[in-house]
Amino acid sequence: MENPVIIALDFENASKAKTFLAGFEGQSPYVKVGMELFYAEGASFIGWLKKRNFRVFLDLKLHDIPTTVHKAMKILGGLNIDMVNVHAAGGVAMMKAAKDGLVAAGAHHTKLIAVTQLTSTTEKVLSEELLIKDTSLNHCVSHYAKLAKDSGLDGVVCSVQEAMEIKNVCGKDFLTVTPGIRPSGSDTHDQARIATPKEAAVKGSDFMVIGRSITQSVEPVSTYKEIINEWRESHENNNFATFA
Ligand code: C5P
Repeated sequence: MENPVIIALDFENASKAKTFLAGFEGQSPYVKVGMELFYAEGASFIGWLKKRNFRVFLDLKLHDIPTTVHKAMKILGGLNIDMVNVHAAGGVAMMKAAKDGLVAAGAHHTKLIAVTQLTSTTEKVLSEELLIKDTSLNHCVSHYAKLAKDSGLDGVVCSVQEAMEIKNVCGKDFLTVTPGIRPSGSDTHDQARIATPKEAAVKGSDFMVIGRSITQSVEPVSTYKEIINEWRESHENNNFATFA
């Protein structure tokens, strides 16, 4: 069974990220590099990670016209990353262009996933700011997931609460990558809709994106291992086992 934890490296520079990762000596966890770290350090830090066998989810959430996204993905596909993402709101043509860009780079192993609606988007924002009025947030998320699937993408970023419905709509092999995870009893920080690793496993999450619960833990490696164990114990009882 594959390691279900992706550690969010929400650090301001490579030096801080490397100091944190030094504690994982001998292991190469799956890590997420987001806009802050990538814009600060660029491709060289991705190269540093890949040289040391870390699996990398590059969380840049591309959203532009199809031609631009195609060209950008062709560049990112050359970084040997394991996962990358776009906004589903860019539409089917843009998502297909993103996929084609990766293929053009020969990055056949790189999973391409879509952000449906950001977890910071509420029903009120959806209807009053974005003027998406004739649907609920949940329905919008499922619909965007279906568009991503039809565009040839491998999965979506979503909340644990949405994962099961997405599996129902898009099939069990369609990846659900879920942030907002907190081990029982730990600080919720600014996350509104949280779930425990156990809930994530039961509700069909394939990968849990976890930042502060691990990066700010007094014992990050122990916390990381505890989270994996909790997920694995529960995963045995769930119907959405997508990994062999
Ligand atoms: O520290 P925490 O576990 O809340 O970090 C979650 C990570 O997942 C952060 O890098 C955050 O930007 C990212 N994320 C999220 N919600 C989304 C998409 C990404 O929390 N909808």
